[in-house]
Amino acid sequence: MSTEQKSSERKSNERTSSEQASNEQNLKVAVLVGSTRDGRFGPVVADWLLGHLEARGDLTADRIDLVETPLPVTFPSFGGELSPDDAALLAAVSPRLEAADAFVIVTPEYNHSFPAPLKNAIDWHNRQWHGKPVGFVSYGGLSGGLRAVEQLRVVMAELNAATIRNTVSFHGASQCFDAEGKAIDPAADNAAKTMLDQLTWWAQALRDARRARPFAA
Ligand SMILES: Cc1cc2nc3c(=O)[nH]c(=O)nc-3n(C[C@H](O)[C@H](O)[C@H](O)COP(=O)(O)O)c2cc1C
Repeated sequence: MSTEQKSSERKSNERTSSEQASNEQNLKVAVLVGSTRDGRFGPVVADWLLGHLEARGDLTADRIDLVETPLPVTFPSFGGELSPDDAALLAAVSPRLEAADAFVIVTPEYNHSFPAPLKNAIDWHNRQWHGKPVGFVSYGGLSGGLRAVEQLRVVMAELNAATIRNTVSFHGASQCFDAEGKAIDPAADNAAKTMLDQLTWWAQALRDARRARPFAA
């Protein structure tokens, strides 16, 4: 191997290990797709957000779609055992929430609130939310899902999570995206950047804090 080839191989190895180090440092963000309706619009909104998230170098996304990983709807009695089937369903979701440093909930508005399957997914978990930030992307009819987000803030506060002030909302959502899934109004892209910047600040601060001492639940 020539000196030039050796130098190029060394640089490539250095690049790979520095990329690995930076990926390990990346904050893990679980993106929850809150709608499970047949014919739902939710994936368009979620994929747009994921595009923003993945374009950053500092965040690693995990898309949790409650259609692909449904959760049981009947809770066990207090202290009761889960059936093997229910345990298997939870095993596809709970460790991913546990591993997350931050969350983005993508939610429509249903009857001035958020969809029941999303509440179910939230209620199956507790410590997985503690001491972590939650950002929101909402959509709906006239409301843009804003009332769903305000209700989610109350729920997430009960679970010791920190909700991010700035949100992204789409009013009349189906008219807000082009055929390639891009947002028609660039203000939405700016809003996503602001929300993700704030989420990242909180996620970094809270990850450092959780590493320094366990959350006081
Ligand atoms: C059961 C139901 C209730 C709804 N309630 C509201 C509402 O209160 N406010 C609103 O702005 N839009 C409401 N909508 C419209 C939805 O927010 C909108 O159609 C959205 O795209 C639904 O998300 P999805 O397609 O991902 O299920 C409702 C839709 C459904 C199916």
